[in-house]
Amino acid sequence: MSIVSMIKGRSGASGFGYASTAEEVTAGLDLHGKTILITGVNSGLGAESARVLAMRGARVLGAARTKDKAAEACRALGNDAVPLACELSEPASVRACVAEVQSLGIPVDVLLCNAGIMALPKREVLHGQELQFLTNHIGHFILVTGLLDALAPKGRVVMLSSSAHHRAPAVGIDFDDITLAKSYSAWSAYGQSKLANLLFAKSLAKRLAGTGKTANAVHPGVIATNLARHMSLVERVGFPILAAIALKNVHEGSATQCYVATHPSLESVSGEFFADCNIQKPSRHARNEAMAERLYEVTEQIVAGL
Ligand SMILES: NC(=O)c1ccc[n+]([C@@H]2O[C@H](COP(=O)([O-])OP(=O)(O)OC[C@H]3O[C@@H](n4cnc5c(N)ncnc54)[C@H](OP(=O)(O)O)[C@@H]3O)[C@@H](O)[C@H]2O)c1
Repeated sequence: MSIVSMIKGRSGASGFGYASTAEEVTAGLDLHGKTILITGVNSGLGAESARVLAMRGARVLGAARTKDKAAEACRALGNDAVPLACELSEPASVRACVAEVQSLGIPVDVLLCNAGIMALPKREVLHGQELQFLTNHIGHFILVTGLLDALAPKGRVVMLSSSAHHRAPAVGIDFDDITLAKSYSAWSAYGQSKLANLLFAKSLAKRLAGTGKTANAVHPGVIATNLARHMSLVERVGFPILAAIALKNVHEGSATQCYVATHPSLESVSGEFFADCNIQKPSRHARNEAMAERLYEVTEQIVAGL
């Protein structure tokens, strides 16, 4: 047996593993009556998660940068899927999305914070913030904190992090240079934003303790999606080849987030990091409660000024 097939065949304590698909981890679940908001519904892991969760009966609130993109993605989903415009790098758009969801007047069972951008080669700044941090972390922070009251009694928040959180700056979140003006690199900036996703899930879990609501973070695996669009030519040529040989397809890549979003065994599991549908230990920075707390407070201050 090759090393690749050994890795792919492995399953963990949950009974699921590397090669489990979103359809497999949700098999037998009846999600009729559940409402699941998914950001980045029009592409990659968000589109596949929406397809599978709708197939199980969930009503999807499908968010994309524009209403047109969201509507296009929602058309195939059925179950009264609702298209939402949510441009995560524009606080006004995220706040309008929050208001639109609130106006539906229905409890949201899952906030699946899936959208993201990766490894911008040059530092880009919008609203005074580094663009990956703004999009991946701050945009989702506004969305989730705005919708906490709309979250169902056993509602779940699922943050898409990444194993790339290990590539954050050596200090973790660089509070002294949070926009990375002094030390930008494509991967440390992406890593900082994904560490922020993980720390946000952790600090949110602490705040939600005792309410029945949960917050967790996931690494989906490495999957050839549109996410690679900002990578260099060398990286982009290598990425699909690597993906074809050893890494996950989109069905496998969507499994962990669908598992954490819906599996009944995780009803009271909160503040954890999952990969391959099992709890995993993240980096030491991601386990740092003081860093999680400081990030929450610093983000609140940033958001107040946006
Ligand atoms: N693929 C991987 O190997 C991998 C590994 C680890 C973690 N992840 C994480 O998994 C998540 C999903 O990634 P994916 O692989 O499915 O990538 P993808 O195919 O590129 O999908 C990303 C989605 O995010 C949306 N998005 C990007 N910027 C946005 C913004 N400013 N406002 C609103 N939506 C925005 C995109 O919309 P547009 O299409 O309109 O740009 C798209 O729908 C990301 O959070 C990523 O960090 C992926």
